[in-house]
Amino acid sequence: MGKVTNIAVLTSGGDSPGMNAAIRAVVRTGIYHKLHVFGVMYGYKGMINGDICRMETKSVANIIQRGGTILKTARSKEFYEREGREKAYQQLKKHDINGLVVIGGDGSFKGALAFSEEFDIPCIGLPGTIDKDIAGTDFTIGFDTAVNTAVEAIDKIRDTADAHDRLFVVEVMGRDAGYIALHSGIATGAEHILVPERHTNIDDIVRALQTNERRQKLVNIIVVAEGEKFGGATEVSRVLREKVPHLDTRVCILGHIQRGGSPTCSDRLIASRLGYAAVQALREGKYNCMIGIVNNKLQYTPLNKAVKARQNINEDWFNITRILAS
Ligand code: F6P
Repeated sequence: MGKVTNIAVLTSGGDSPGMNAAIRAVVRTGIYHKLHVFGVMYGYKGMINGDICRMETKSVANIIQRGGTILKTARSKEFYEREGREKAYQQLKKHDINGLVVIGGDGSFKGALAFSEEFDIPCIGLPGTIDKDIAGTDFTIGFDTAVNTAVEAIDKIRDTADAHDRLFVVEVMGRDAGYIALHSGIATGAEHILVPERHTNIDDIVRALQTNERRQKLVNIIVVAEGEKFGGATEVSRVLREKVPHLDTRVCILGHIQRGGSPTCSDRLIASRLGYAAVQALREGKYNCMIGIVNNKLQYTPLNKAVKARQNINEDWFNITRILAS
């Protein structure tokens, strides 16, 4: 593949706080190196439709602190098909684009992988998802902000739970991964944390609640990841109301507030480092990889590995929860 001269950047899948900081880093690093930089609106959908615009230094002014994504985002079924990807390729060719940066989650990398295997446009993936469910990186852009949003909300829930001596079942995001639940749960002193990666034993929870009651501990918080297999917060609370009916149980689903908001310092920093690294990688001829940060160093993972692998949750984290929340 020849020298990269014209690059494009897009955001795809669910947005995450810090995506704007990453776009800014790609645009400004590209311009610094005298590349022509383009923004693709609405992810792969916009790529197919030719929704592509030139980005200048000023296009990314005053966005580092903003949540969401100025390039918008979408999920595109058409891009799953070879025909859709062919259309997208033709649109990029119109602008002589010969390097692509995709900011998104594993679904977005699947698209980038298929595209890069079929066409001569090198792709670099940057992990942007609040769920942190991608191998090859310790953190993803948006995770830290989402977790801090969850922590702030759960702290508030604990205030009211404490005032009323209530049991709260709080659902946080995480369709396939329990990291938001685990991190926010430990940070807020949750009594139980339920995640998709682990079997939920409802009878154990009932027993623990009864033991707590005997000790006059009536305030309990159970943090449940949305993808938890028992059925999420709604089902968990339904069964608990049945099994321990005298407890005053409430449910709170935090939902999409976790996806918005101004990114934390950590997310802005990761996004800036990764955006900068993406352009460097394209210039150095590294391609079809996702750039992550492992032990504070950049790590390049082939897109097919970033797609398939998942991080493992250390069992010790559940011991921490059990011992510290006793
Ligand atoms: O971005 C990941 C995620 O927030 C998941 O945790 C959640 O299940 C999903 O996105 C929600 O997606 P949507 O916004 O399309 O409902």
